[in-house]
Amino acid sequence: MEHLAICTDMKVYSYDELTADDRALIEAAKAATATSYVPYSHFSVGAAARLKDGTVVSGSNQENAAYPSGLCAERTTLFYANAQYPNMPVETLAVAARTEKDFIADPIPPCGACRQVMLEVENRYGQSMRVLLYGRDRIYEIEKAANLLPLSFNSASMED
Ligand code: THU
Repeated sequence: MEHLAICTDMKVYSYDELTADDRALIEAAKAATATSYVPYSHFSVGAAARLKDGTVVSGSNQENAAYPSGLCAERTTLFYANAQYPNMPVETLAVAARTEKDFIADPIPPCGACRQVMLEVENRYGQSMRVLLYGRDRIYEIEKAANLLPLSFNSASMED
């Protein structure tokens, strides 16, 4: 028997420690929560993607009475970015979430399906996509999407 441990790492920042560009991207993600459609969860998530040419696109979670038909903010945003700017790598994706009361204190951990889509975006362009997860009390910076999904299934997994 062999025991394998897979480690990942990320940085933890306070808001004040962030660069002006990263703060602006987080503010775009926070603002995008206002466009969420969340009659079922009342949990608003916003995401903002900064593309390689500096363009910023944002999106939010969109729910549906048939629950699985809804989509998270991260995928709404990345699919929109890829559909509008198919040749433009995504350099950084910021995510923020709030209840009806306030933004959450701890950063929101993206769901598994969103992590899989983030990884595909990164692999598609052959360029790391940074992920910034906003919380009122701290911000997580993940250097590349692959760090959010160790032992991932990807196109290389289908090769012999
Ligand atoms: N949600 C996101 O938009 N992103 C995440 O990373 C986690 C969850 C949404 C899906 C659903 O509309 C609501 O939050 C509650 O799960």
